[in-house]
Amino acid sequence: MASSFAKPLLILSALLLSLLISPSQSATCSSQTLSNNKLYAHCNDLPSLDSYLHYSYDPVQSTLSVAFIAPPAKPNGWIAWAINPTGSGMLGAQSLIAFRNSAGQMTVKTYNITSYAPPIKESKVWFSVKDATAEYSGNVIRLFATLVLPEKANTSLNHVWQVGASVTNGVPDKHDFSPANLNAKGSLDLLSGQSSSGGSSSSSDSRVKRKNIHGILNVVSWGLLFPIGIIIARYLRTFPSADPLWFYLHASCQLSAYVIGVAGWGTGLKLGSESKGFQYTGHRNIGIALFALATVQIFALFLRPQKDHKYRFYWNIYHHGLGYAILVLSIVNVFKGIDILNPAKKWKHAYITVLIALAVIAVLLEAITWVVVMRRKSNKSTKPYDGFSDGQGRQLPLSS
Ligand SMILES: *[C@@H]1O[C@H](CO)[C@@H](O)[C@H](O)[C@H]1NC(C)=O
Ligand SMILES: *[C@@H]1O[C@H](CO)[C@@H](O)[C@H](O)[C@H]1NC(C)=O
Repeated sequence: MASSFAKPLLILSALLLSLLISPSQSATCSSQTLSNNKLYAHCNDLPSLDSYLHYSYDPVQSTLSVAFIAPPAKPNGWIAWAINPTGSGMLGAQSLIAFRNSAGQMTVKTYNITSYAPPIKESKVWFSVKDATAEYSGNVIRLFATLVLPEKANTSLNHVWQVGASVTNGVPDKHDFSPANLNAKGSLDLLSGQSSSGGSSSSSDSRVKRKNIHGILNVVSWGLLFPIGIIIARYLRTFPSADPLWFYLHASCQLSAYVIGVAGWGTGLKLGSESKGFQYTGHRNIGIALFALATVQIFALFLRPQKDHKYRFYWNIYHHGLGYAILVLSIVNVFKGIDILNPAKKWKHAYITVLIALAVIAVLLEAITWVVVMRRKSNKSTKPYDGFSDGQGRQLPLSS
């Protein structure tokens, strides 16, 4: 039983660790051949969304030719490349978006992105477009365009790129907000061919790292330690030999879960206060409720009446009720968080596997507990185990 539980837990911790290490992308754009047989002076492997940008700039004509290559999030999705002359992110992005129109042809349209709220509207943009085409093959969209930039445009520009999963009635739908999507921006030097993730690079890298840390802290505390602590309390104390060990295990498990959970909760509040334009209200509210409930639960430890006190029965109801509420909310919120962070599917699968293992263990222990209690009852005809009593009237440690 122990090993069936340890294995998925090990896999999960290995996965959690590898989340902290950023994936690297091999340099491939220089070996790409483009179907329009055009040669571009520069090419860049962009740092996120598996995208590539080839481009040439003619300072005399002020024309910029680009080929932007990216896999859309789903086959019927879209890809976008944009210059942002007034900022560094999505707001103000002068965008070229390539997708399949309702007639089934690949098309490129321009959008002045002025708000985070969908739908976006086709419009004129900061540059004029001499020609633009797109093609889709091998799960990748290639967007070709020649732009005429305004005179005296700065040759160091901020650019943004993006991919989306769907197009509704000829309008590209909202994209995901995973770290890869949010980091798809940088600066581009038209003359030297240098591109970088710009001044925002280190801050967005550290943001990704902080999101991963937030995820790990909370999965470990709310998602694993709390449920394990409940299993310890519910099942270990059936065995007289495990007393008072179960109590110390339970209390230290839940106390460390609380400490780690509060750290994770703090990182979540910080991340929430920094995220502009989109909010995860449900995840945030459940997180705040969890913090409040868990804090009350910690007080329960110190307010615990003596075992034979007349209020002990009510204390038990309150402590157990709160515990199970925290259990359910924690698991719901871990899944909400996983959906927001949107890591590779294996993370979610690993967490589900661990939960199933815990559930199997709990069911087995529940069965064992009943057998033990029934035997005890028939042997000594003592009080049955009712889930609210503390067994055989044993004195709990720390309870005076
Ligand atoms: C884009 O929209 C903003 C807000 O409406 C406007 O101020 C700006 O001039 C527009 N840009 C272009 C190039 O039309
Ligand atoms: C171009 O942009 C860079 C960095 O954004 C800035 O330092 C520089 O002064 C700008 N040059 C012009 C001519 O506006």
